[in-house]
Amino acid sequence: MKVAILGIGTVGSGAYDIIRESDCGLTVARVLDRYVPEGLEGLVTTNYDEILGDPEIKIVAEAIGGLHPAYEFVTAALRAGKHVVSANKHLICHYYRELHELARENGVKLRFTPSAGGGIPWLFNLRRARRCDEIESLRGIMNGTTNYILDSMQNLGSDFAEVLAVAQSLGYAEADPSADIDGWDVRRKCAISASIAYDTVLGEDDVPTFGIRTVTAADIAYFKSMGLCCKLLAFAKKNGNEVTAYVEPTLLPADATEASVGSNFNCISLWGKYVGRLSFIGQGAGKYPTGHALVEDMLDIRDDVAMKKQTAGGDITVNADRFPHRYYIRTTAKIADGLVERRDGDVVITRPLSPAAMHKAAAAAADIDPLLFIAGLEDSVE
Ligand code: HSE
Repeated sequence: MKVAILGIGTVGSGAYDIIRESDCGLTVARVLDRYVPEGLEGLVTTNYDEILGDPEIKIVAEAIGGLHPAYEFVTAALRAGKHVVSANKHLICHYYRELHELARENGVKLRFTPSAGGGIPWLFNLRRARRCDEIESLRGIMNGTTNYILDSMQNLGSDFAEVLAVAQSLGYAEADPSADIDGWDVRRKCAISASIAYDTVLGEDDVPTFGIRTVTAADIAYFKSMGLCCKLLAFAKKNGNEVTAYVEPTLLPADATEASVGSNFNCISLWGKYVGRLSFIGQGAGKYPTGHALVEDMLDIRDDVAMKKQTAGGDITVNADRFPHRYYIRTTAKIADGLVERRDGDVVITRPLSPAAMHKAAAAAADIDPLLFIAGLEDSVE
């Protein structure tokens, strides 16, 4: 089967190499890019009509990233009757409903496994598990950069800024590392995962998010003294017809599965009513892992691997005001007595608060103390 790759950057070139070297039966007929890598002179074009107008190209693999022009390219491909695979979490999260509807209207497939979890077949297996199970909850480490930073701080006692610079030099971080350290990257992956798990559509605004920009070596030392390990986790939990999704630094016991997941690895788990816990660990980013997931999606389309259809038409509502739990807050701002279970200098352990309530209180306190840091204390972690 002939395919086209849009963007021959890190992920696109990874997918290209894998197709060329693996004898998997796909052929890259065209590459869309302004940059022409050595040896690809005859393949690369800047004229998208050459791809749209070629009836032999059945799949378009989008590896450009960002919203535009990726949106215009992907929608044009779907309208032209081509299947689309994409690694682009920003695009998929932002246009989730529209892209699914467009694929359905045009009788083609849309797959985006690498958009959350990179090389891990997480979204594929989440959708697969849903065929005969109910996803009660999911949670995971979905960002390699922040896991690398927290792991180094935890194990080497490093300072935040110093390890962020290393993570950037290793190529883990987004072009603007704010997307990593402020949790926006995880928020998109969380919204996509929850949308699949609960056959609904969550947008970024549905997911209260707190990142790790303000975590300090002193915070980490405090957690270690309590036998706890800090990880940036995404959560989605269902109760009846309501879904609660949030992203926040989370304090886990040292023997929790995620606590042993170091470096830039991701670890994402689902809890099914029948299957119980399933956890997936692997490279959440990088040229070959993410390229691999992109190629796997193409092969599933070629091999007609059926997936439960996303209808996004259910009666699920999103409510971040559920699932209260206690929080660690380190701040010089005054935290209202009504929220406090215990104070220890600048540290407050709150009484159980919903993610919506805590994130709102944290945003208000951050106006006074921008260096404030919070972390959730999940009472039940396994
Ligand atoms: N910056 C992201 C990460 C890349 O560190 O996980 C993969 O989405």
